[in-house]
Amino acid sequence: MKSIRDISVMEAYIRMCDDGWLQGWHERNGGNLTYRLTHAETEELRPFFKDQPQAWVSMGVKAEDLGGEFFLATGSGKYFRNVTLAPQDNICIVEINPAGDSYRIVWGLEKGGRPTSEFPTHFMNHAVRSRATNGQCRVIYHAHPANLIAMTYTLPLTARDFSRALWQSATECPVVFPGGVGVVPWMVPGGADIAMATCKEMETFDAAVWAHHGLFVSGPDFDTTFGLMHTIEKAAQIYVLVMSMGQGVRQTIQDNDLRAIAKEFGVTLREEFLD
Ligand code: 13P
Ligand code: ZN
Repeated sequence: MKSIRDISVMEAYIRMCDDGWLQGWHERNGGNLTYRLTHAETEELRPFFKDQPQAWVSMGVKAEDLGGEFFLATGSGKYFRNVTLAPQDNICIVEINPAGDSYRIVWGLEKGGRPTSEFPTHFMNHAVRSRATNGQCRVIYHAHPANLIAMTYTLPLTARDFSRALWQSATECPVVFPGGVGVVPWMVPGGADIAMATCKEMETFDAAVWAHHGLFVSGPDFDTTFGLMHTIEKAAQIYVLVMSMGQGVRQTIQDNDLRAIAKEFGVTLREEFLD
């Protein structure tokens, strides 16, 4: 019998966890990744499900549109660096009940555990991004990239300030995230309150900065979503390098340059963020 790793969605999910670890974004158990499975992928994975699913667990949040969906999720307290070594102990597949307010584990976390403590935020973000993209969004990814976190100590915590600073830090940024990024002020992680605050940003943006904590990004597939995290963190690194040079900014990409990039690449920049 083939292994669950032979199923292509599982292989791609494990690879993304490993890629994030190799980037240095997942110290200890930092970060989490969820993927909303397609119906065909769920059927491919079903032969590996537990004979007896675990009990339903209430999530404290509700999204009726996601009732009956299946998600791949990293485990709470589990380390990204261990996912490729033993996926069955570090990640899981959960089924959502028809009402969309509870989950149960149908595969994985064989040595015990539960899905990421940020599952309420992931779940509500899936609901919001799925609605905003006509069902295209499937991936929600949270990481702790150091340079972006550093920016949250010096810049005003507004979407406009962060979007502009990141767009100006690398020419490809306005093409990759023309809508900009949202910002959530510091909040206690892991609960319904931060889930709702993040959702509010995710109605407008496909990425949301968590002050002094990390970044949430969303996308239709693993490549696009990982690429968004990577692009934002690379821009943040350039921003931090420039500030660390201690000479201030002598020249930068001007607002009309940003408009010209958008025109050339056929994307719509959030004009209200430009002067
Ligand atoms: P989990 O281990 O519960 O996924 O938490 C990690 C994290 O990054 C919390 O924000
Ligand atoms: Zn975190």
